[in-house]
Amino acid sequence: MSVTVRVPAKVNVQLAVGAARPDGFHDLANVFLAVGLHDEVTVTPAAGLRITCAGPGADQVPLDRTNLAARAVELLAARHGRAPDVHVHIAKDIPVAGGMAGGSADGAGALVAADALWGTNTSRGELLDICAELGSDVPFSLVGGAALGTGRGEKLEPLEVGGTFHWVFAVADGGLSTPAVYREFDRLTPAAPAPEASPALLDALRTGDADALAAAVSNDLQPAALSLFPALHDTLAAGTAAGALAALVSGSGPTTAFLARDAASAGRIADALRASGTCRTARVAPSPAPGARVL
Ligand code: C5P
Repeated sequence: MSVTVRVPAKVNVQLAVGAARPDGFHDLANVFLAVGLHDEVTVTPAAGLRITCAGPGADQVPLDRTNLAARAVELLAARHGRAPDVHVHIAKDIPVAGGMAGGSADGAGALVAADALWGTNTSRGELLDICAELGSDVPFSLVGGAALGTGRGEKLEPLEVGGTFHWVFAVADGGLSTPAVYREFDRLTPAAPAPEASPALLDALRTGDADALAAAVSNDLQPAALSLFPALHDTLAAGTAAGALAALVSGSGPTTAFLARDAASAGRIADALRASGTCRTARVAPSPAPGARVL
């Protein structure tokens, strides 16, 4: 018997970052949008906890207890007084270390899968608490859709989305460490103002207006990501030249995200990015996408 859960990647259409807090985290106004690129997490009873991973970039995924999927299973098992004896297999399609919450997705996916496998019937609220303990982006991987994240990004308020937005994601050669990008942000931004969600951006999501969304997207981590990974300037320029309505770094990067007018335009931008030599590959994905779901 095994259970498989499908869980989406995300792009931050707004990532407003405040000053570092005493605990080292940053207060955010983080507008998450789940996109149709997915990992699938399968849990199967086993003699002990074991993690395997296959797919693009799988060789860079840690298979020890630092993997968020392993920590998720351990936290759930501890809550229910049982041993975390499962094999967790991650079928990876979300870019690894790319700023698209792939590791967070695997944590949320493993949690939902183990809960279904064990029949532990953990409440939604408790699952969200465990997700927040795992990482700032993990609660959003559970709920999907679109949401405003405040605090360190873990306090979620669902947002209405009035249409489908079409994206292209350029996968970079190499990764960026999220803590390193936040450290660079601190160096570049000595007096960050308190983060606030943009009313124009929330409106654009609600009305499904791609031009209005393009005009409103922003990412305060982008200068830091570009500073650590200057080649991303060329990727952003290539997508813009190919007709993207907006071009931005996804989260802490180095994946870059391009908003397209429609699916056909997204296909053309992806082709142009692949041909540009400025990225490893390009993927198209619609949004919003649902959160973690048992298949
Ligand atoms: O919460 P998570 O483990 O995903 O965060 C990874 C790292 O990103 C943190 O250790 C911290 O350096 C940085 N971070 C932050 N402020 C946030 C979220 C993450 O500084 N709101």
